[in-house]
Amino acid sequence: MSAWLITGGAGFIGANFTARALKHTTARLIVLDALTYAGDLARLDGLLGPRCVFVKGDVRDEVLVHKLFAAHAISHVIHFAAESHVDRSILGPREFIQTNIEGTMVLLEAARSAWHGDCDGKRFLLVSTDEVFGSLGPQDPPFNEETPYRPNSPYSSSKAAADHLARAWHHTYGLPVVISNCSNNYGPWQFPEKLLPLMILNAVEGRPLPVYGDGLQVRDWLHVEDHVSALLLILEHGLLGRTYCIGGHDECPNLEVVFGLCDTVDAVLGQPQGTSRKLIQHVADRPGHDRRYAIDSARIRQELGWIPTQRLSCALPELVRWYVGHKPWCDAVRSGAYRAFYEQQYGPSGTP
Ligand code: NAD
Ligand code: TYD
Repeated sequence: MSAWLITGGAGFIGANFTARALKHTTARLIVLDALTYAGDLARLDGLLGPRCVFVKGDVRDEVLVHKLFAAHAISHVIHFAAESHVDRSILGPREFIQTNIEGTMVLLEAARSAWHGDCDGKRFLLVSTDEVFGSLGPQDPPFNEETPYRPNSPYSSSKAAADHLARAWHHTYGLPVVISNCSNNYGPWQFPEKLLPLMILNAVEGRPLPVYGDGLQVRDWLHVEDHVSALLLILEHGLLGRTYCIGGHDECPNLEVVFGLCDTVDAVLGQPQGTSRKLIQHVADRPGHDRRYAIDSARIRQELGWIPTQRLSCALPELVRWYVGHKPWCDAVRSGAYRAFYEQQYGPSGTP
């Protein structure tokens, strides 16, 4: 039976992937997560057990990572663990360089050493972002796998560096690497400082909705369920050394997204339409803010038969209801109150 190491599996996308992998495969799953501010075991409630074990630890911890490869005979790595918020990377880039670049190198090296050049049935999937490609003008064609890298933020440049490392480990050492670059995700369990959950919760609480600059920046929205279904396909059928772009084909300017969220919150809470829109405040723009992202997913559609099934405008009511229904979880992760509990349960350092 194959054993999959899922790094960052207590994060937003990693936890959604873990749930899907448990349901749709027979693999043993080893979730490695440092439980930073962004990680939370509540996302794995009901999933942990004999087939899915959790290890608290840092991907930069070489001893721990090598031990995990040996102890569990890891055959697949799905590498999500990262510092992931652009705004935080602008305030403090160091952690991004260390986790996103150094952490990726530690995992690549551990896989290389454990697999000894015998890569039959082995896979290393690096989960990356469309932000490595930089920013598009309004008339530019969407990013695809041939688009040159032009990362603009400390976050995207650290992810770009990780992509280059993975590609180089494939080219130089023959490591069975596959890379995915996806657009902005939404769905349940997203940390509530990212645009959608932040705006939903602020609207519910009647607090200001901070729109950066003119709010006409465009993102391509991808439901996390569509993303993780694409990742499973890539992991199991993707070509080695290949990159796959994954997008929702659902471009929308931020302001329009926020209008939609406001109207949906009003409907869900049963308050007069227009109530939440009054909370919108244009604030100073993010430094170096990328204007537009869009993805052409033709390759994964044609080669692996994947298509996105959800559109943000249709998914909004369910999304808003989920965050309203999980307000206690959102409040707890925003306050950091849950961290003391996990420190008590798992200790400050990792235990394999
Ligand atoms: P997230 O911030 O919700 O989760 C990251 C997880 O990694 C957390 O559980 C955190 O505890 C863990 N982690 C951080 N540093 C670690 C370390 N040093 N060692 C071990 N674990 C560590 O992020 P997410 O939104 O789930 O994103 C997952 C991956 O997908 C990231 O690599 C991100 O760059 C990529 N991605 C995300 C999006 C998006 O829209 N969220 C889009 C494209 C790509
Ligand atoms: P975000 O969720 O941080 O994702 P990313 O920066 O990786 O695309 O932000 C999505 C978009 O929303 C981005 O253009 C920045 C904008 N934004 C705001 O206007 N206000 C906010 O409070 C936040 C968090 C983001």
